[in-house]
Amino acid sequence: MESLRRRQDEIKEVSPVFEEIQSKRLFENARSCAIVGCGNGEIELAFIERCMPALEVLTAVEPDAESVIEVKKRIPRQLPKVRYSVIEDGGESWGASTNQVFDVVVMIHCVSDIPEAARRPLFSRLFERVIKPNGLLLVTTRTERLDGTQSAESQIMEALNHRPYVDTNWYEETRLLVEAIGFTVCYERRYGVHINVENLDEGYLGFYARECDEPTSLEKVEQVVKSVVGDTKWTRKEFTCGVF
Ligand SMILES: C[S@@+](CC[C@H](N)C(=O)[O-])C[C@H]1O[C@@H](n2cnc3c(N)ncnc32)[C@H](O)[C@@H]1O
Repeated sequence: MESLRRRQDEIKEVSPVFEEIQSKRLFENARSCAIVGCGNGEIELAFIERCMPALEVLTAVEPDAESVIEVKKRIPRQLPKVRYSVIEDGGESWGASTNQVFDVVVMIHCVSDIPEAARRPLFSRLFERVIKPNGLLLVTTRTERLDGTQSAESQIMEALNHRPYVDTNWYEETRLLVEAIGFTVCYERRYGVHINVENLDEGYLGFYARECDEPTSLEKVEQVVKSVVGDTKWTRKEFTCGVF
């Protein structure tokens, strides 16, 4: 993950979105928030710092043990006045068992990590029990590219696993699902993030190797990545941020 993070500056590229949300004051009065699948929390906390000035209570939910260690250090550093807890768990099992209620639930780049069959029960539970009646759900995930081209990630994963990897519909599918459950969209905006693909290193190649269906050498991943990115220095991922 570290190599991937160094290759992009998502906080900078998502800033106009956060600024617009701030100007609309959508989250201005939120006092409690859960950040689900937050990783090290970098993007989620940047969002909270910018858009939730009244936040008092924060729950972070993340299944990866190393990320949990990082987010536990990051929260008190960035939000010293906020009471917080960090729960090492998947979003779906946390959602099914929590008795807490929140003004806001934030899910940035994690819906695709949640098993597909678990998504409807999780969003239903968020709608019925976990998010307060006037509360908000924020979801950010990959979206269709405006020029209709296939993302580099999709091309790489298809070449490695020899099966379709469709990431163009992740946002649209999530929106249809949450709207079917009862959420109503109140803000939507797309943005892009550039990724530097020069000097491919072990960290970057290892990320794709771990996503392969079968054990795959870094040499094989490097060969596939080079065949997809060619001489380009930058690729671009497209996301939509939706508030419901
Ligand atoms: C692409 S990362 C995004 C991390 C962070 N939200 C960000 O935007 O930088 C996906 C995150 O989802 C987490 N994850 C994996 N399975 C999950 C699940 N079942 N429920 C919630 N999060 C999950 C991963 O551990 C990882 O931290």
